[in-house]
Amino acid sequence: MHIQDNISLKSFNTFGIDVIAKHFVSVSSLSELISVLKLDQYQNKFILGGGSNVLLTKPVNALVIHINLKGRTILSEKNNTVLIEAQAGENWHEFVLWTLKHNFGGLENMSLIPGNVGTAPIQNIGAYGVELKDRFVSCQALNIETLELETITKDACNFGYRNSIFKQKSKGKYIIVSVVFELTSVQHLLQMNYGAITSQLTAMNVTTPTIQTISQAVIAIRESKLPNPKEIGNSGSFFKNPIITVTEFKELQQNFPNIPSYPVSATEVKIPAGWLIETAGFKGKTFNNYGVHKNQALVLVNYGGANGEDILALSQLIQKTIYRIFNISIEAEVNIL
Ligand code: EPU
Repeated sequence: MHIQDNISLKSFNTFGIDVIAKHFVSVSSLSELISVLKLDQYQNKFILGGGSNVLLTKPVNALVIHINLKGRTILSEKNNTVLIEAQAGENWHEFVLWTLKHNFGGLENMSLIPGNVGTAPIQNIGAYGVELKDRFVSCQALNIETLELETITKDACNFGYRNSIFKQKSKGKYIIVSVVFELTSVQHLLQMNYGAITSQLTAMNVTTPTIQTISQAVIAIRESKLPNPKEIGNSGSFFKNPIITVTEFKELQQNFPNIPSYPVSATEVKIPAGWLIETAGFKGKTFNNYGVHKNQALVLVNYGGANGEDILALSQLIQKTIYRIFNISIEAEVNIL
């Protein structure tokens, strides 16, 4: 194991925030991870996956453990079902492309989501009508206290919208080391009811969609709206879409007749936070070297050299303004450190 001191985390977080980690180690095997966790001299330890869902606002006074476990295995293939296990350090999108190359279906709508396989279950990533939970079977997680591996099933994960047990009662308890997915191998169930997908396929002259062309459509939609973290630092959606009651929604409609909503249950609706932020006038606003993205108001961006505290302050200003105008609290989706 190679522990380094005073390392910049700039290339390890998609926001591109330049903060120093007091100590840093990248682990590429389970045994190495266990050995690192046993090091008593480093009291504070911080687990880093793909760094795509974190805003770093200060130096990290800890041993940062970068999870770099790699590997993808076809566990079984029977009839139309294939079980695949991917290690936590696999880049999510590269893994999705690998499944598509093998003609395994189910992850295509989640193409181009930044981050790694091992962090995907924590916030139950999702896009274009499909969430990770829809394809998830179980994960192997290392219990940080006992250093034992545990298999955590889908039910036990208690997945919700951008939520799971790993953000709630088991926060900080586990390190996910691998994930098992159930995909289709012959007859794929294409999910195209998310509006933009069909229109994008039409624009691409696709008459008989496949999992591969759906992936291409999703990539094209995402590229047109979302900044590429390699070019402009960002963490995808900075906020969750808030869920409010139908009664609250009806009241809001009186002042804002165009307010969009998606049904959640008989009594609740989800409001696109992007619409709230755009209506509040923040879309495309730039403050020195950071701001709100011009094509998707849900995304805060670092144009280069911004610090996390400034972006945090902007997010708080947005939250306060949204509350003042709409009486809605919007919650950060990104972890703030
Ligand atoms: N909208 C605006 N202005 C904006 C952005 C959005 O008015 O600047 C409104 C429009 O009415 C639009 C609606 O919001 O029709 C929905 O926008 P979009 O389809 O872009 O989806 P979203 O609700 O903003 C969510 C996820 C994204 C995911 C897309 C597609 C959350 C927090 N975000 O965004 O996930 O890619 O749906 O499924 O749920 C991420 O989590 O990092 C992420 C990018």
